[in-house]
Amino acid sequence: MSVEPDVFSSKEKVPTIVLDSAKEVSLSVAREIADLIRERGSHGRTCVLGLATGSTPMTVYNELVRMHRDEGLSFANVITFNLDEYFPMRPEELQSYNRFMREHLFDRIDIKPENVHIPDGTLDVSDVPEYCRRYERAIQDAGGIDLQLLGIGRTGHIGFNEPGSSRTSRTRLITLDRLTRMDAASDFFGEPNVPRRAITMGVGTILDARRIVLMAFGENKAPIIAQAIEGPVTPTVAASFLQEHPNAQVYLDAAAAAELTRCKCPWT
Ligand code: PGA
Repeated sequence: MSVEPDVFSSKEKVPTIVLDSAKEVSLSVAREIADLIRERGSHGRTCVLGLATGSTPMTVYNELVRMHRDEGLSFANVITFNLDEYFPMRPEELQSYNRFMREHLFDRIDIKPENVHIPDGTLDVSDVPEYCRRYERAIQDAGGIDLQLLGIGRTGHIGFNEPGSSRTSRTRLITLDRLTRMDAASDFFGEPNVPRRAITMGVGTILDARRIVLMAFGENKAPIIAQAIEGPVTPTVAASFLQEHPNAQVYLDAAAAAELTRCKCPWT
C-alpha cells in the first residue's frame, strides 16, 4: 500500500513515492532498472548505470542478482560507473566500495569486467585530478548515464558531495564531513580509522544523468529528506539540487518520509 500524494505533497519539489517498506521500494527500483536494461538491449544498445554503495541499495542488487539467476536478466549490455570510493583505499579492504560492488553485484552477474568503473582509491594524490578528468570523459564516451541510483547521507550528500558542493562540481577529491565519518565509524571499527577523504562524482556529474532515482530508508534519514525535498535548493544540502532535475524520482519507506509535510499533518 502506498501513501498517496495529496495537497500537502505540493510542498515536495521532487516527485516522491512513499511505500510501506524498504523491500517494496527496492523491488520496484530493481524492476525499473531491469526494464531499462532489457529495453535498451532489445534495440541493440548499451545501458549505462550510475551505481551507489551503502546499506540502502543492497536489496536492489540482491533482486537484480535474483533476476539474473531466475529470469535470465543479462548484464552483457550494461556499463556501470560508481559514485565514489574512499581515499585512500585498497580494493581488497573490507570497507572498499570496489569490494562491496564485487560482492553484492558484479561477481554474481554476467557484466563484462571492462564495463565496470569505480573510482580508484590507490592513486598517488598528485594523479587524482587527471584521473577524475578521465573518469568524466569515460562517462561521456559511454554516452552518458541512463539511470543514476542514489542514497543520501545525513549531511544531505549524494555520492560524497558534502555540504558546500556546488551545482557545477565534477568528479574530484573531497574531504568527508564529520557526520559522515561518524556514520561510517562502525564499518571502520572507530571514527579515527575512517579515511578523511574520498573520490566522488560531482553534483554536476550526477545531474547530467538522464534519470535519477534516490532511495532513503529509516527514521535517521527523515530530517534530511524533508530538507532536500521541501527546502530551498542550496549547496548546504547537495541532494536539494535534484529539485532542478527534469527526471528525478525519490522513493522512501514510511520512516524516511515521516518529516514530510504530508506525513506530519495529523488529519492526513
Ligand atoms: P547508507 O548511506 O545507504 O549506508 O545509508 C547512504 C549515503 O551515505 O549516501
